Amino acid sequence: MQLTDREFAWIVSYIHTNYGINLSQKRVLVTGRLQNYLLRNGYKSYGEYIARIEKNPKGQEAVNLINVLTTNHTYFMREPVHFEYMKNVALPWVKQCAASKRDVRVWSAAASTGEEPYVVAMLLMEFFKLDTNWDIQILATDLSTRVLKHAMEGKYLAEQIAPLPDRWKKSYFKRISEEEYQVKNELRKQVVFRQFNLMDDIKFKGLFHIVFLRNVMIYFDDNTKKALLERIYDHMENGGYIFIGTTESIDKTATQFKYVQPSVYRKIN
Ligand SMILES: C[S@@+](CC[C@H](N)C(=O)[O-])C[C@H]1O[C@@H](n2cnc3c(N)ncnc32)[C@H](O)[C@@H]1O
Repeated sequence: MQLTDREFAWIVSYIHTNYGINLSQKRVLVTGRLQNYLLRNGYKSYGEYIARIEKNPKGQEAVNLINVLTTNHTYFMREPVHFEYMKNVALPWVKQCAASKRDVRVWSAAASTGEEPYVVAMLLMEFFKLDTNWDIQILATDLSTRVLKHAMEGKYLAEQIAPLPDRWKKSYFKRISEEEYQVKNELRKQVVFRQFNLMDDIKFKGLFHIVFLRNVMIYFDDNTKKALLERIYDHMENGGYIFIGTTESIDKTATQFKYVQPSVYRKIN
């Protein structure tokens, strides 16, 4: 099956315009993933598939295109420096600043298959466990419905949960087969999973104390990043912390966030 230059250009433009992801240098990735999908689903050509999406941009095939083309690599305890920082600095600050309302709001904005928001949830549960009447709100969003389904089920292989401390494995996971574990209901219900496109206006209620925006801006161009950071800034509490991937950085001139240390920024106005 041949992907013509014109068809590739259509896919690049469609994904960039709607989801901010820049695939212009990823022709091998696009053909590798899409060809498989098209063959499995009985399409004769890329053109036929594109026509289907154009005819129904909100339909299932448009959803499937995203499910196939997004890169969702993640793992438990990725970039542990952020979790240390959260425990030692950000959460003590939340405890102080939200002492009267006793609520804490954290957003994992590119949550993928759930490893990141579940680690956040375990950290919060542990941190606030003696303060029983704190309202812990964790929002986990992603563009891909495929990874969100996985995240909501919370099923992981033994080797995937291996990096977690034993006490967390014991308290928050149950063994469901020889090889598989599942996040216990008690933890799963702490996290609200929603499909959300980071290109869209943020309409979630309440301001976030902490935002994880890790390893997703790498797919966006500078203007998309800048606009996204502005929208997130407006939806954070003053003093709130944002974590980005440790290999990423934010151009100082393009953001109101204040630099704290590599990959950690803060809203201070
Ligand atoms: C590499 S994963 C990062 C997962 C996790 N944050 C981490 O650092 O391990 C990037 C995720 O961003 C999501 N993503 C890409 N573009 C997005 C967009 N426009 N809106 C929301 N999520 C997006 C992808 O579906 C993917 O699951």
